[in-house]
Amino acid sequence: PVMPLVDPFARPITYLRVSVTDRCDFRCLYCMSEHMQFLPKADLLTLEELDRLCSAFIGLGVRKLRITGGEPLVRRGIMGFFRQISRHLGQGLDELTLTTNGSQLARFATELADCGVRRVNVSLDTLDAGKFTAVTRWGRLEQVLRGIEAATAAGLRVKINTVALKGFNEAELFDLVDWCGAEGHDLTFIEVMPMGEMEGEDRLDQYWPLSELRARLAERFSLIDLAERTGGPARYVRLRETGQKIGFITPLTHNFCESCNRVRVTCTGELFMCLGQEDRADLRAPLRASEEDGMLRAAIRAAIARKPKGHDFDYSRQRVAGQMSRHMSHTGG
Ligand code: GTP
Ligand code: 5AD
Ligand code: SF4
Repeated sequence: PVMPLVDPFARPITYLRVSVTDRCDFRCLYCMSEHMQFLPKADLLTLEELDRLCSAFIGLGVRKLRITGGEPLVRRGIMGFFRQISRHLGQGLDELTLTTNGSQLARFATELADCGVRRVNVSLDTLDAGKFTAVTRWGRLEQVLRGIEAATAAGLRVKINTVALKGFNEAELFDLVDWCGAEGHDLTFIEVMPMGEMEGEDRLDQYWPLSELRARLAERFSLIDLAERTGGPARYVRLRETGQKIGFITPLTHNFCESCNRVRVTCTGELFMCLGQEDRADLRAPLRASEEDGMLRAAIRAAIARKPKGHDFDYSRQRVAGQMSRHMSHTGG
């Protein structure tokens, strides 16, 4: 049996997030600039290489695989990748899932379910069609809602991810909660993180601390704190009145780094040991250097051995610290 991956802080690494493309059919304001320079196709790992990479991680003890982007479902041939990688389910891999903007779900939901995907995380920041188009720069809400319906119809559980944005979706808090309750979707709010080259000032203007959001929720609902952690960064509350479970991801006000179980691979084969740090390891070279996985495995182990303790994001003292020049679409959140 192989030695599992454990980092210098004794955290077992069992969760891999893989960004299969840097491209997206939307341009969310907090995620991408309007005129993104996408990578030339030649820089991308092929789907076969991505499969080999994921399989190597699974061989090293990764039990949960989340496919992200950009928008993973805009990568050509991605269903073939899902079908192939699903062979690991029950053979080391416990969960295969994806985070998507939902725009292509109407087309792919059934096939995803056939590949053993059980739940999907869908990013949705507003239920107002006009505001949706504004925040995504040109997306259509209707298309995403149809995608979500298709996912539900295919038997997939849906978790809605909503980035909390001051002055943008503040007034919609209860609409989002009510809608998710009625549709039976889980809901998680995310604090906006300082990624990409936006001005620090803009980021601070957008920042709506989840402590405030929580206080607003408490005006209408009784919140019961749940002790459970799903191995992700979210903390949960239950609304006594409706029984709904709501998650909060607060990288900036809370530190969940101590129980971090994850690393990220980009579509060019860079391994990021932390979402909030620049340090990375190139896996493309060892991947391409040999058909055998020995060098690849060694490169993965060497990288995990220098996983940092946590990120340096900080909005305190009215400035943004730890800002990343990299866009969120690069590592897939
Ligand atoms: P599940 O718990 O399996 O539902 O997944 P998840 O919540 O980890 O995945 P999802 O793609 O829904 O992640 C939501 C967002 O949480 C990400 O896009 C990031 O913004 C944030 N996030 C996830 N992991 C980390 C992390 O390790 N560090 C930080 N700072 N943020 C994270
Ligand atoms: N801060 C917080 N969340 C972000 N996302 C994208 N950019 C940011 C950011 N700057 C979220 C998306 C999606 C997930 C993959 O990451 O809304 O839910
Ligand atoms: Fe695309 Fe998601 Fe980024 Fe929006 S947040 S631009 S949907 S990758």
